[in-house]
Amino acid sequence: MAAEPRRSLAVAITGASGALYATRTLAALLSCGVHVELVVSDYGRRLLRDELGEDAAVERLMPYLSSKYGTGVDAGSITLHSNRDLGATIASGSHGCAGMAIVPCSMKTLAGVAHGLSRNLIERAADVMLKEQRRLVIVPRETPMSLPQLRNMVLCAQAGAMILPAMPAFYQQPTTLDDLADFMAGKILSALGFEQNLYPPWTGRVE
Ligand SMILES: Cc1cc2nc3c(=O)[nH]c(=O)nc-3n(C[C@H](O)[C@H](O)[C@H](O)COP(=O)(O)O)c2cc1C
Repeated sequence: MAAEPRRSLAVAITGASGALYATRTLAALLSCGVHVELVVSDYGRRLLRDELGEDAAVERLMPYLSSKYGTGVDAGSITLHSNRDLGATIASGSHGCAGMAIVPCSMKTLAGVAHGLSRNLIERAADVMLKEQRRLVIVPRETPMSLPQLRNMVLCAQAGAMILPAMPAFYQQPTTLDDLADFMAGKILSALGFEQNLYPPWTGRVE
């Protein structure tokens, strides 16, 4: 019998603040042995460099992840797709990509997904997730939000996506930015069906 194929998930990074959420999510998925189909928009590329430095540029992402999060990330693998390549594997529902996270998700990409525009690979892959009724996790980041932006989130949720806003909690008493990113990445992994221990569960105990 053929070996079980490695689980494949798509991750898109767009031009909203919070590149650290993306790198933490990527590292956690890779450490679970996932094959990541990665797409980064032009502004996503800019955010990675602006917020995390040149070492986190897309072309150097794998070494960056293993130096920051440890060699456990080598359990997984990444295929980097151009956002302009609408002929990439994940543009088709016939490709066995089990789910997708857009983290962080700009209001522009949110609008494109909400209206099924498929103007680039990120929007098309998200559209594929919705039409195939597979898990699509959208991590929007903006504040405050306009009525069209709020409506776009409702449209995505009605189409079957999970809206998982970049809203870290504080009950776990975070002390670093990495603690906040751990919380968001843990939420995203749970939403994609993984058991995770990136943040402590709420115990109900009041100290
Ligand atoms: C430094 C920087 C931070 C930004 N932060 C956000 C943000 O938090 N949310 C958002 O919706 N757009 C943000 N933008 C604007 C988007 O990057 C812009 O709308 C872009 O066209 C999004 O394109 P994309 O979705 O293809 O990445 C930011 C832009 C820059 C340069």
